[in-house]
Amino acid sequence: MHINSANFVISNTEVKKCPTDGLPEYAFIGRSNVGKSSLINMLTNRKGLAMTSAKPGKTMLINHFLINEEWYIVDLPGYGYAKRNQKGQQQIKTIIEDYILERTAMTNLFVLIDCRLSPQQIDLEFIEWLGENNIPFSIVFTKGDKLTKNKLDSNVEAFLNELKKQWEELPPYFITSSEKRMGRDEMLNYIEQINET
Ligand code: GTP
Ligand code: MG
Repeated sequence: MHINSANFVISNTEVKKCPTDGLPEYAFIGRSNVGKSSLINMLTNRKGLAMTSAKPGKTMLINHFLINEEWYIVDLPGYGYAKRNQKGQQQIKTIIEDYILERTAMTNLFVLIDCRLSPQQIDLEFIEWLGENNIPFSIVFTKGDKLTKNKLDSNVEAFLNELKKQWEELPPYFITSSEKRMGRDEMLNYIEQINET
């Protein structure tokens, strides 16, 4: 798929203030700092579209970007950032949960996983919660440029093995690097396929 246009539309904390045109949307979630905003910039070929930062906790709002005037990318705040105070963490949790549970336009949730880490409880529990709530999702391993091919493969396999304990069938998954522009065609083709059905 070619990205002809990618435009910021709105940021907010409430699902009811999100766009009401009913266009399909693809949301990006994962732990703080996993690379959600960087991946969105890489996919859209727009460097500063989503704000990124080396410090976790950068994205605090639900951010809608309109792509090709046909579908949305949604950048969500990260979960599990321990340095936020408790009230802040609870606020973010509520924003994320309300969005995921209530947003009928959400066609697919991309759950980002840092490929450098061993399987993390917080991610596995989050994915289990998605399953309990019948949320359509796929997995995106991020920062693939940071590992050798061997280590990357074995970490991906370790994570998928954990998922196999939860799921009879594995969800679709992508291995990406925003730095090296890896996985871009695969993800855009996947989105295109869903949009066309
Ligand atoms: P929050 O909004 O805080 O939840 O973070 P985020 O998930 O949006 O992460 P963001 O895209 O802001 O990236 C966090 C840090 O990781 C930044 O310093 C990025 O430059 C770096 N980063 C993101 N993706 C990649 C990647 O593919 N490769 C490398 N080497 N660094 C990456
Ligand atoms: Mg972000």
